Amino acid sequence: MLKERLITQLPKTRIESTEFRFVPRHIGIMMDGNGRWAQARGLSRRDGHRFGTLNVRRALDACARYGIRIVTLYVFSTENWGRPRDEITGFFELLAEVIDRETENFRREGVRLIHSGSLDGIPPVLAEKVTRAVANTRANRAYTLNVAFNYGGRAEILRAVQEILRAPISADAISEELFERYLYTAGLGDMDLVIRTGGDQRLSNFFPWQAAHGVFYSTPTFWPDFDERELRRALQVYNQFWQAQNKM
Ligand code: IPE
Ligand code: IPE
Ligand code: MG
Repeated sequence: MLKERLITQLPKTRIESTEFRFVPRHIGIMMDGNGRWAQARGLSRRDGHRFGTLNVRRALDACARYGIRIVTLYVFSTENWGRPRDEITGFFELLAEVIDRETENFRREGVRLIHSGSLDGIPPVLAEKVTRAVANTRANRAYTLNVAFNYGGRAEILRAVQEILRAPISADAISEELFERYLYTAGLGDMDLVIRTGGDQRLSNFFPWQAAHGVFYSTPTFWPDFDERELRRALQVYNQFWQAQNKM
């Protein structure tokens, strides 16, 4: 508990959101580096994931202060099933706790929760919590939080193809606009900025369709340390890119 208080009591530096000319509408975050963050402190990977989940609240608050209305978080990839069983179980327990803890906040803040991914193979209690949270927040409009949980980008595209064929829709009627409606992110639009923490510059099957035109930003900072200042740095890079484009 003491450890958790440390992170929730970090001072919040308020930054004016008018600072940036270009504010991404939709950002994606690949929250990587929990394990290495913990290792560097002599903690367990599970502790790393615990601090990682605690940091979600801080990151979402920072996004809101900058006027970002749609955030997609990479929580668990289909490739993550390859991890040790007890790490996966512990991770699922943490997720269930987060959903319970955040439910009331989502209602108060007007957050609509969307799930991208499959619930196949997910423990029934957790699957039920996800389904309920999505249903209960459906009418919320202030922010959208898209949770990529048991998500894989290629699987998402194949699923869309299957549903289009099943509809059935004729080949000539298939456009980018139509295709998008069959993705988990239907209606959310393109990802303008993708942030990856933990230093790797890999795409890891993260929304290949939606992020096709996005700006990719990688920071060596591990996810539990990613704060408002870090987000600000990412937004600076995003603005440098768009300012340069606008001069051409
Ligand atoms: C990211 O942290 C969280 C998930 C992928 C679930 P990692 O667990 O990948 O941490 P590192 O990359 O090993 O440090
Ligand atoms: C990417 O992190 C997936 C999530 C952040 C959930 P990983 O640590 O699983 O990275 P890769 O797939 O090995 O690159
Ligand atoms: Mg990793």
